[in-house]
Amino acid sequence: MIDLSTLLLLAASILLLLTLYIVLHGQRRAFAKIVFYETKVAIKGIFMNQTKEQRVLQYVLDNAMRGDPQSVIDNIDRYCHEKEWAMNVGDQKGLILDNIVKETNPSVCLELGTYCGYSAVRIARLLKPGTRFFTVEFNPEFAAVAKQMIEFAGVDDKVQILEGNTQDIIPQLKKKYEVDTLDFVFVDHWKDKYTPDTKLLEKCNLLRKGSVILADNVIVPGAPDFLEYVRTCGLYDCTNYPSFLEYMNEKDALEKAVFRG
Ligand SMILES: C[S@@+](CC[C@H](N)C(=O)[O-])C[C@H]1O[C@@H](n2cnc3c(N)ncnc32)[C@H](O)[C@@H]1O
Repeated sequence: MIDLSTLLLLAASILLLLTLYIVLHGQRRAFAKIVFYETKVAIKGIFMNQTKEQRVLQYVLDNAMRGDPQSVIDNIDRYCHEKEWAMNVGDQKGLILDNIVKETNPSVCLELGTYCGYSAVRIARLLKPGTRFFTVEFNPEFAAVAKQMIEFAGVDDKVQILEGNTQDIIPQLKKKYEVDTLDFVFVDHWKDKYTPDTKLLEKCNLLRKGSVILADNVIVPGAPDFLEYVRTCGLYDCTNYPSFLEYMNEKDALEKAVFRG
């Protein structure tokens, strides 16, 4: 068993190394900053009995207006700008997401990576009545936070959280969830899964001519293999939307890939 002082020493050493890394390696600054924040959060977690995600939720419960999705979104953004960074799509890229959801006007939607439910609330508030929206999350603690967030925002009748791994859930969508094809897919889970899960959507015949795939964080942390795939495989028409990494002054972008059918 590691005792508390050893753990603290270890954590302090990691922080010191990361600080040095941030100072010395400008080009990977954004990624290093995220690791730095997450290490700080992990240290904080040793002393507090709430996770960062539970603290985000608590802030919303204390400050936002129940049943008002915009107020939930605004309070998450305020918390993450002012108190602790978190990996939501965020307010700046969120505006691009809003516009693409509005122009797509989907009837069946899928999100890969729910986290605290920020983007799920953001998307759900724009959906027309009767739209089916599934969001997939494999971390049960995050899924539990998202469930409360979505309920508090008053959009729980529009969102169905599917707890599990995207690789297992995507092949179940047709039979178990009676999905024919998807109109809109927000891809925002671990970046090395973007390409295999996009290919899985194709293999499972879940895409139709005009299905929109929107991928977050294609610059930071980055999804180069996904960009290369969708831009060169001949199956998609692609558009890049430059923006900034959530709650940071670092360049990031969303990539829209429209399936040619
Ligand atoms: C960047 S966060 C999602 C942020 C969220 N879309 C938002 O903007 O509010 C990525 C999430 O994807 C989840 N995740 C990563 N890989 C996954 C997988 N293969 N299956 C299911 N969930 C996954 C992680 O646990 C994490 O909660």
